[in-house]
Amino acid sequence: MQIKPVDTFDYVVFGATGDLTMRKLLPALYHRFRDQQFDDACRIIGTARSALSDDEFRAKASDALKHHVAKEDREASLMQRFLATLHYVRGDATAEGGLDALRTMLEEAPDRVRVFYMATAPNLYGPTCHNLHAAGLAGDGARVVLEKPIGHDLESAKKINDTVGQYFDEAHTFRIDHYLGKETVQNLLALRFANVVFERLWNADVIDHVQITVGETVGVEQRGDYYDTSGALRDMVQNHLLQLLCLLAMEPPSSLAADAVRDEKLKVLRALRPIAPHEVGHVTVRGQYAQGAVDGKAVQGYLADLGPDRHSRTETFVAVKAEVQTWRWAGVPFYLRSGKRLPQKVSEIVVQFRSVPFSIFGRDAGELTSNKLVIRLQPQEGMRLEMMTKDPGPGGLRLLPTELDISFEQAFGTRYPDAYERLLMDCVRGNPTLFMRRDEVEAAWGWVEPIIDAWDEARESPRLYPAGSWGPTAAIALIERDGRTWHEELT
Ligand code: BG6
Repeated sequence: MQIKPVDTFDYVVFGATGDLTMRKLLPALYHRFRDQQFDDACRIIGTARSALSDDEFRAKASDALKHHVAKEDREASLMQRFLATLHYVRGDATAEGGLDALRTMLEEAPDRVRVFYMATAPNLYGPTCHNLHAAGLAGDGARVVLEKPIGHDLESAKKINDTVGQYFDEAHTFRIDHYLGKETVQNLLALRFANVVFERLWNADVIDHVQITVGETVGVEQRGDYYDTSGALRDMVQNHLLQLLCLLAMEPPSSLAADAVRDEKLKVLRALRPIAPHEVGHVTVRGQYAQGAVDGKAVQGYLADLGPDRHSRTETFVAVKAEVQTWRWAGVPFYLRSGKRLPQKVSEIVVQFRSVPFSIFGRDAGELTSNKLVIRLQPQEGMRLEMMTKDPGPGGLRLLPTELDISFEQAFGTRYPDAYERLLMDCVRGNPTLFMRRDEVEAAWGWVEPIIDAWDEARESPRLYPAGSWGPTAAIALIERDGRTWHEELT
């Protein structure tokens, strides 16, 4: 692994005591520190409304690291040095003068790279940026990082982008979709554009359809209040699954320059066939988990997870048949599905190729199955090409499906860094390639929103599915109506 140290920085995290900071950001920063990507002079400055001393904040952080960093990666002296880079400033980011203490602290080191990370509710992004500007902290190349969700729909996303855009220009605005930070997601670029074998076949002539599955075994955990206003379509499809679709479907960019890549992704989002209200019942499925069992353990349903006496029409599972209206992809469906409380935590892409145009093999040769490329994004990262071979031995030419199988873990024998590790450092470096540009976010909302509106209009409850199953049976029907099936290992 090659480590390129970054310039000395002050990383300010708003929402410093929240779940995201503790579970993801601090562990990711710890790993980067451990790999000597930044040094002891850098400061990670937590900001929130509660009154905490530096030591109290460090104690919380230390606790979080114990939970979220593997034991073998925690070395006492290194942990101490990392914790010493943490500071805490109490502040109300949205109140007038609420950032005075932060300003005083930042002014001690005016020449460093400054990053402001919004790990807060999205409705605070605008007011916080306004206040950063009022405190004189928004200029001089300072960067702002916005966590997803950027808004709740197209209008609220535009509003956030407009307000943030008054104070931070696009080149300094980093909208996170952490899927883009995953190694295996970046590997899609390598797979497609560093090999000639696939790209020549990457089109409707040869590909029958594509499946993208992002399954989780967890329920809504402690995030019920947020999740219930969101649901699987907003929480996962609008961003993560559509970004995967973009990387799979986009035309080759002219380079890896941020805008070259993002221009191509944007074209895909704009080419998504709009789903009309009357088709929504046909090409989308919404589900909500009921009680069931996951990993052999009985678990309660979504409503019970929300709390006593709760009613909700929020979907915890969604399946959508999407289409990209371009010459390359005409007639190739992209089946997307994602849900909580599914049987496996798995993110997988299946590229199903067409069958051979004509079989020269007799019936005795056995069934000819079409090629399939299975890209496992997580866990057990790897890739598998399913292909037909001759069954060895005498007795006529019989065919046998076999696999070209690469496990990335075995091939590279390395720890896969968490997605946030790469992204947090990219913000310091000022490299926005793996971040969503404003127009991408808005185009994604533009496609998703009519689906949400049609669901709202129909006022139908999501279909229940037992926790530990692959969603409602309607999701199976969605693909089987087209004479196809979900990849068999995931059913
Ligand atoms: C987040 C969603 O963006 O992604 C969560 O808000 C989800 O609901 C998470 O659990 C999944 O990420 P990962 O990296 O665990 O696949």
